[in-house]
Amino acid sequence: MSSQVQNKAITISTLQDIKDRGEKFACLTAYDAIFSELISTAGIELMLVGDSLGMVLQGHDSTLPVTMDDMVYHMNCVRRGNNGAAIMADLPFMSYASEQQSLESAATLMRAGAHIVKLEGGAWLSESTRLLTERGIPVCAHMGLTPQSINRLGGYRVQGRDPEQAHTMIDEAKILEEAGASLLLLECVPTGLAEDITKALKIPVIGIGAGPTTDAQIMVVHDMLGITPSSIRVPKFVKNFLPESTNGLPGAFEAYAAAVHSGVFPGPEHTFK
Ligand code: KIV
Repeated sequence: MSSQVQNKAITISTLQDIKDRGEKFACLTAYDAIFSELISTAGIELMLVGDSLGMVLQGHDSTLPVTMDDMVYHMNCVRRGNNGAAIMADLPFMSYASEQQSLESAATLMRAGAHIVKLEGGAWLSESTRLLTERGIPVCAHMGLTPQSINRLGGYRVQGRDPEQAHTMIDEAKILEEAGASLLLLECVPTGLAEDITKALKIPVIGIGAGPTTDAQIMVVHDMLGITPSSIRVPKFVKNFLPESTNGLPGAFEAYAAAVHSGVFPGPEHTFK
């Protein structure tokens, strides 16, 4: 790290300021120190230590087997490589089933170096969101396709297509903002719904498969490098940025950051109508 330019630390306030200026920020998942170093040095503002590690690193067919110990291990690796990005960590499956448990699990990840924790779900998380926020832990709510609920959802498919479900999603997003959430992540929702939610909220909205109008974009790092494991179907919203690079991984991360910042990515071919 010593030979590199040290990036100024990005905080939750930086992300809010970017939204308030009408600009966009870029996010990628990271699971280890060297990817953390390359991603943060490329100017990507937010890294997610995602429980997607269960699928792309561990070879599981869902995120459900990921444990708190797994998350702490990878969180520590990412913290060591970080060059100024904000780091968000997923609370894994069944680590926030009660308010007290959410506090204990979030505190463990914050002690390991997370700046923000992410919880999958809607209005049922409002009390946990309030509790964590009041105790100094920034929360990102994750709505739309929530992979930890894959068995209830019945498959990895677009959420919020029917008008009633769409209205519920808008209402629940507002409830979570009101409860103190600092960020909202929307996964696999139609572009129009993502736009309505982004306009309805003051906090930044991060999209994945949610169209171009959200305040930020996120992708699983393996997907944006074209190395999605063969056991996983490559989703429509994925773009491989490696072919755009003339200097390997750093160039791919810089190309992704530039495409998100300028609004060029995602294009119409990556979105759900
Ligand atoms: O775990 C993860 O990588 C995620 C992204 C798909 C947003 O939650």
